[in-house]
Amino acid sequence: MNQLKKGFPEGFLWGGAVAANQVEGAYLEDGKGLSTSDFAAYKDPYAGGEVNNFTFNVSSQELLEYTANESGYLFPKRWGIDFYHHYKEDIRLFAEMGFKVFRLSISWARIFPTGMEEKPNEKGLKFYDLVFDELKKYGIEPLVTLSHYEMPIELTKKYNGWQSRELIPLFTRFAETCFERYKDKVTYWITFNEMNMNLNSLYTGAGTLPDLVSNQEAAAYQASHYQFVASSLAIQIGKKIMPQAKIGCMICRLETYAETCNPEDQLQALKEDHINLFYPDVQVRGEYPAYMKRYFAENGIEFETLPEDFEIIRSNTADFISFSYYMTYVTKGGPDAKELSGHLVSKIKNPYIKLSDWGWPIDPIGLRITLNKLWDRYQVPLFVVENGLGAVDTLESDETVHDPYRIEYMGEHIRQMKEAVCDGVELMGYTSWGCIDLISCGTSQMSKRYGMIYVDQDDRGNGSLKRIRKDSFFWYKKVIESNGEVI
Ligand code: BG6
Repeated sequence: MNQLKKGFPEGFLWGGAVAANQVEGAYLEDGKGLSTSDFAAYKDPYAGGEVNNFTFNVSSQELLEYTANESGYLFPKRWGIDFYHHYKEDIRLFAEMGFKVFRLSISWARIFPTGMEEKPNEKGLKFYDLVFDELKKYGIEPLVTLSHYEMPIELTKKYNGWQSRELIPLFTRFAETCFERYKDKVTYWITFNEMNMNLNSLYTGAGTLPDLVSNQEAAAYQASHYQFVASSLAIQIGKKIMPQAKIGCMICRLETYAETCNPEDQLQALKEDHINLFYPDVQVRGEYPAYMKRYFAENGIEFETLPEDFEIIRSNTADFISFSYYMTYVTKGGPDAKELSGHLVSKIKNPYIKLSDWGWPIDPIGLRITLNKLWDRYQVPLFVVENGLGAVDTLESDETVHDPYRIEYMGEHIRQMKEAVCDGVELMGYTSWGCIDLISCGTSQMSKRYGMIYVDQDDRGNGSLKRIRKDSFFWYKKVIESNGEVI
C-alpha cells in the first residue's frame, strides 16, 4: 500500500492571480489599442446607477454612446491599479510573500492593437519581457493566460467578436507571437479564461454585442466553439515551439447541488453540472459529449461547425484543468428548472452557508467536493487559479488593514484543498484571486477588494496608489513558508 498523503506536495505552486485589464492601466500607452474592457463603464450605485454583479455586457447602443461621449463616463479598467508602471514594486511584494507563481494575462490589444495587424507591436511585447524578467529575479514562475476577458475592440466592431470564424487565425497569430517571444521565460500557459462564462455575459469573454445576435444562448455556444478550435490550434502551435510547456484550459467552476434528495432535483443538478463540465469535457477528453448534442437538439441551438474542427479538438487536448472557485450553485427540477438555471449566483439560497458582501455563497467544503469530482472524471492535474473574497476593507489611520474575514475565507478553502490532496487529487497549485486589490471584473468597482495588498484608490480613480500590506499579507506569507501547514 502507498503511504497516506499528509499535505501539499513539494514544489506546490503557491501564488496569486490578476488579469491585464484589471490591473495594468496605461490603456493607450506604447501603442496599445482600445480593448473591449476599456468600455466597461462604472455605474455608480450612489448616483442611481446599477452596479451589475458580473454582467458587464455592453450593447451596440452603449458602445456607440461610450465612443461618442468618452468623457461622460468612468472606465476604471482604463486605469486599473497602474501595474504598468508599478510592476516592479508589486512583484517585490509578491516575492516578499514568498510567491512561487504569479498568474497574469497578456493584453491582446497591447500586442496587436486592432487584432488585425500583420506585425506585433514591439513596445507591447517588451513590457511583458520586463515583467517576466522581474519575476525571474525572484524565482517566481509566470502562469500566463492569453485571453482573459478582453480583446481589441476593433474585432467587436468588425466581426462582433467570436461570432466569426475569422477570429481563429487572428487569435492563433497572437498566441504564436507570444509563444515565440516568451518560450524561454514561460512554462505554464492557459489559453482562455473561463470560457463557460460566455453563457452569462457574451461581451465579456467573446467580445459579442448581445443585441446583435438573434439567439444569445446559441451565440454563446458559437463563440465557445470557435474558441475551442482556436485553443486547440494554439496548443498545437505551442507544443511545437515549446515541447516542455504545460498548456491548460480554464473554467469558472460551479459545483451544483440539488435542493433536495428528490430524484428530479438530483437529475436537474446533473444537467446543470453538464453545462459546466461540457467545457473541460471538450478540451480534455477531446470531443463534444453526447449529452450536449442532445441538449442542443432539444433546445433548438444551432451554430456553425466544420468537420475538420472536431479533429483539431480531438488531437490537441489540454495538459491540465485550471479553474476559478468562488461559490457553489443550488438547483431543483420541475417547471422552474429553466428559469433557475444558468445564473452566476443561484436563485435558490443554500441555508447552510454564508454570503459575501456581494451576495456570493461561501462554501469551502464545496472546493474539496469539486476537486475530487474533477480528478475522478479527468485524471489530469488540476490547478486552482482563482479563489478569494471580494470585501470592503478599511484603511486605518496608522496605514494598516485588518482583514480577518479574508484570512478566514482563504484559510478554510486552503484547508479543504489540503483535504482533497490527501484524498488523492493531483493539484499543481493555488493562485488566490486579486492578490493585490484590482478593478472588479463584474462591477468595475475598486471597492470590491480581493487583495492581500491594499491599493489606495477609490471607485472613481482617486487616491495615491500607495501599496499597503494587509494582515492577510503576513498570514499568507506563513502559509507559503510552511507549504500549507500553518493555516
Ligand atoms: C473571475 C474572473 O470569474 O472572477 C476575474 O476571471 C474576476 O476576472 C473574478 O475578477 C471576480 O469577479 P469580480 O466581478 O468580483 O471581479
